[in-house]
Amino acid sequence: MTIAYRSEEMLRMVDTETATVDRRIFADQDIYEMELERIFARAWNFMCHDSQIPNPGDFFQTIIGEDRVICVRDNDGNPQVLVNTCRHRGNAICRAEEGHATSFMCTYHGWTYDLKGALVGVPGFKEVYHEELDRENWGLIKAGRVDTYKGFVFATMDPEAVGLQEFLGDVGTIGLSLIAERADQMRIIPGVQKYTIPCNWKLAVDNLFDWYHPGISHYSAFALRMFGDPKPGGALADPLKQPQLVSLGDYGHAMSGPLSYIDEIGETWSMDEKWRDRPAAKEAIPPGMSLTQAHPNIFPNLWVAQNGAQLCLRVPKGTSKTEIWWFSFVNNDEPPETFPMKRAMAINVFGPAGFLEMDDGENWGESTKGAKGIISSRAPLNYAMNRNRGEVIDDESGPLRIETNVNEHAQFWTYRAWADWMAADSWAELKAKHTPSPEGRV
Ligand code: FES
Ligand code: FE
Repeated sequence: MTIAYRSEEMLRMVDTETATVDRRIFADQDIYEMELERIFARAWNFMCHDSQIPNPGDFFQTIIGEDRVICVRDNDGNPQVLVNTCRHRGNAICRAEEGHATSFMCTYHGWTYDLKGALVGVPGFKEVYHEELDRENWGLIKAGRVDTYKGFVFATMDPEAVGLQEFLGDVGTIGLSLIAERADQMRIIPGVQKYTIPCNWKLAVDNLFDWYHPGISHYSAFALRMFGDPKPGGALADPLKQPQLVSLGDYGHAMSGPLSYIDEIGETWSMDEKWRDRPAAKEAIPPGMSLTQAHPNIFPNLWVAQNGAQLCLRVPKGTSKTEIWWFSFVNNDEPPETFPMKRAMAINVFGPAGFLEMDDGENWGESTKGAKGIISSRAPLNYAMNRNRGEVIDDESGPLRIETNVNEHAQFWTYRAWADWMAADSWAELKAKHTPSPEGRV
């Protein structure tokens, strides 16, 4: 693939002097193709949760960039990530979104692969290939590396990538622990909600850190008292004064949002937050972050929507199309009083007809259109809110973080890191500049 932009040009798209972002990054086809190569084909991508593939032969079909992959548990009990394309003529070897298989037979001419991707069956191997086809070299393309953190399976196509734990760093591991440590055993409710929004995937990621918009964009939900009656001085009554926590992590991960548990919303939705007292949770989530409802993003596109114990993938499908995938978690001994909140979060709030997601999706779609015009794309977007404000906390109580009120630090860090990924020619280069500044600021 040709690299249409030089590294210096990519870095200029995100201007650290003015805290602005060039709109072409949401609309340019060449940039989109570079993202598939330089970000998705190199990063660790979330595949599925262990509970979706508990037994050998269980599989879940997912995607890395635009490459469809099958995450399947092999007969040794290990997850394998196989690219879903036959080596003969490229047909998909699996059409199901999830299921159970003992092998994968291509429905075009019948080449058959085992659960580790080896080519084990070729119709006419004797008669028309004269036993000369070197089957060992014609297995499925596989991920460079596959690894699991607390039940979350990740894969990278790049064998040169750093290890998963190093990639996730503090912010990534704390983010995933906000779901994993709710119980001894978390599992995914079968079925993943999927739908399409006509927007650039980065605008959906940007929004998960955005605590500026709810009072305006989601006014109708608040007017209907979806989150209860605002308490004077509380988060709903005065969101712009709400204390916030931001932590910028390695390789572009970040978390940002309310510093502590939001009583108003918690009561209304019967959110059970007692899990935070579990010894394992206390060990995994540092005291300075133990009550936070901040939203983590695992770079590039995995939102840990901790409030409802959900994960949300923003799957790129072109410059102006994103598939949203929602994975909802429960624990095996879930108290029944939490069910209404689970259902509501999965369907009423963030589902395809969800109160909040509909509002958000329209905004992202319009912002994407606003990046396409020749004239409009000349004007960059502004990420300067509360820049260089807030108290930097650098102590034993958690990773480096900033306590402030509503801000755009995490969004801008995501774009900064995005530019670094796009500009870096190698993992060594990426590794050299994967952390935010020593002050924890962008
Ligand atoms: Fe798969 Fe021919 S395309 S066997
Ligand atoms: Fe929203």
